[in-house]
Amino acid sequence: MHRTHTCGELRSNHAGETITLSGWVQRTRDLGGMTFVDIRDRYGLTQLAFNMDSNESLCLRARKLGREFVIKVTGTVIIRESKNAQMPTGDVEIEVTALDVLNASKTPPFTIEDQTDGGDDLRMQYRYLDLRRKPVQENLMLRHRLSIETRKYLDAVEFIEVETPYLIKSTPEGARDFVVPSRMNPGQFYALPQSPQTFKQLLMVSGYDRYYQIVKCFRDEDLRADRQPEFTQIDCEMAFVEQEDILNTFEHLVRHLFQTVLDVQIDAFPRMTYDEAMARYGSDKPDVRFGMEFVDFGPVAQGKGFGVFDSAEAVLGIVAPGCAGYSRKQLDALTDWVKRPQIGAKGLVYCKCNEDGSFKSSVDKFFDADAQAAWAEHSGAQPGDLMLMLSGDLDKVRGQLNELRLHMGSALELRDPKVFKPLWVIDFPLLEWDEASERYHAMHHPFTSPKPEHIDLIDSDPGAVRANAYDMVINGVEIGGGSIRIHDKALQARMFDLLGFSPEEAEAQFGFLMNAFQYGAPPHGGLALGFDRLCSLFGGSDSIRDFIAFPKNNSGRDVMIDAPSPIHDEQYSELFLRSTAENDEA
Ligand code: AMO
Repeated sequence: MHRTHTCGELRSNHAGETITLSGWVQRTRDLGGMTFVDIRDRYGLTQLAFNMDSNESLCLRARKLGREFVIKVTGTVIIRESKNAQMPTGDVEIEVTALDVLNASKTPPFTIEDQTDGGDDLRMQYRYLDLRRKPVQENLMLRHRLSIETRKYLDAVEFIEVETPYLIKSTPEGARDFVVPSRMNPGQFYALPQSPQTFKQLLMVSGYDRYYQIVKCFRDEDLRADRQPEFTQIDCEMAFVEQEDILNTFEHLVRHLFQTVLDVQIDAFPRMTYDEAMARYGSDKPDVRFGMEFVDFGPVAQGKGFGVFDSAEAVLGIVAPGCAGYSRKQLDALTDWVKRPQIGAKGLVYCKCNEDGSFKSSVDKFFDADAQAAWAEHSGAQPGDLMLMLSGDLDKVRGQLNELRLHMGSALELRDPKVFKPLWVIDFPLLEWDEASERYHAMHHPFTSPKPEHIDLIDSDPGAVRANAYDMVINGVEIGGGSIRIHDKALQARMFDLLGFSPEEAEAQFGFLMNAFQYGAPPHGGLALGFDRLCSLFGGSDSIRDFIAFPKNNSGRDVMIDAPSPIHDEQYSELFLRSTAENDEA
């Protein structure tokens, strides 16, 4: 028998029992007369004691154990002389009578402890060792609990999990496809799903009116902390519902998850229209854990002879509470920060509301004290506050000020990862204008329904059309998104036309869906939650990588298995592909 207990299980009530444990050597301490070894498994750590006086040869063998050796020990549970309150098993230790080395280990390339000395790259290369570390294990346990609770909840409200295929045809979600060549169909390719969107809609046509799937999706896009090329969605669809039904169902799911997994009570989610979110926060995923909402300074700052403001489409600002004391150096640093290419502002105007009621701004030459007092009055800035303003093209200024607001929120420690502030952002535009292609693109995806009362605007003013589309946003992170779908063939065809598909292209790519719509497609809609993002939010981290067992790095590589990697010449010919060398020749 390899073990009678786990390494996290033994307590003082086990004292006197003979037990067997198996696990990994965390560390060895040789104190001369005694040698202590900590043995670890998934469940915890237990201290093993070897006594020179009572069993010299065993003790000498214990001293030779290296880190990460796999061992099996048998011994008696005894109460420790000096208890360790930090360890769940800290009341006891094992007086070892038998020691087996099940497998030796090379010295690991980094320490397998909560705080490790291993850098990112090294830990990714030896991810199987990194996964032994408690913080990483806790993240995966959290992920497991979230998936179990999701399944329990959705099962209880009649959702069924249906698997959809991975080898499919392109589903447009706005990213590039990963493609897979087909050996049996020369020159043809499958696409890996960017999401199961079309399949879940077909399931609605088939009558499975509440579908879900915890499913891998694949998108070839630039990576960031919250984006991986393969990631997981809690993908859902419902038939015979309106937007309200969907929002209620998934808001309840997420509140259930907070309650059961984190023991956190969350109130009903507020709703905010896209237009309101953009005006108040300059973002469709506002972090509403803190205020600092946008102030339109145009009415009190334009037309006073300051050319930069006067020539700008918008002058927007925020009031940073209690920051009037910022030094010249801090203000210069903020100015440099907004001028970085990633933010792209031309400059930053500040105005300090001093405690004594006076003002000091970077534009004192153009605005006197009365004018600055009017800004404070307009924005509600109080003595001690700092007004920060950006000007220029409205869309750009919104984006830049959003970044500045988040930056200030972090600097002022207003973005506590243990505080959760969800909301629904609703009424998204149906379309967005793409400068590069000079065409409208679907803001969510081409299957999203315009609001029925806006259908008439589609031809006359496409940019004004709003959709029954919504995002679930928590702490400034887009956790999920969805929409009510088009279920009418003619409207879907019109939508493809608007997006620049010829009827032939639409038929070739999505004929199967439009055909299905002719056979009794019910009204339907749904959403998908980004499961990795949900896990990292619950775990209080910005990076989804920490919650994925085997993630890719920022270049989309798995450095452990070294993928992607070249294929053999035979595979090129078998798959009817041309190798780079052949391409060069051609
Ligand atoms: P969408 O494209 O908004 O919608 O995706 C839904 C959610 O998936 C998460 N997500 C990602 N997570 C990690 N890495 C990525 N690369 C990544 N891309 C997206 C986000 C996002 O909110 N089919 C529609 C849903 C629907 O309409 O029902 C869809 O996929 O959290």
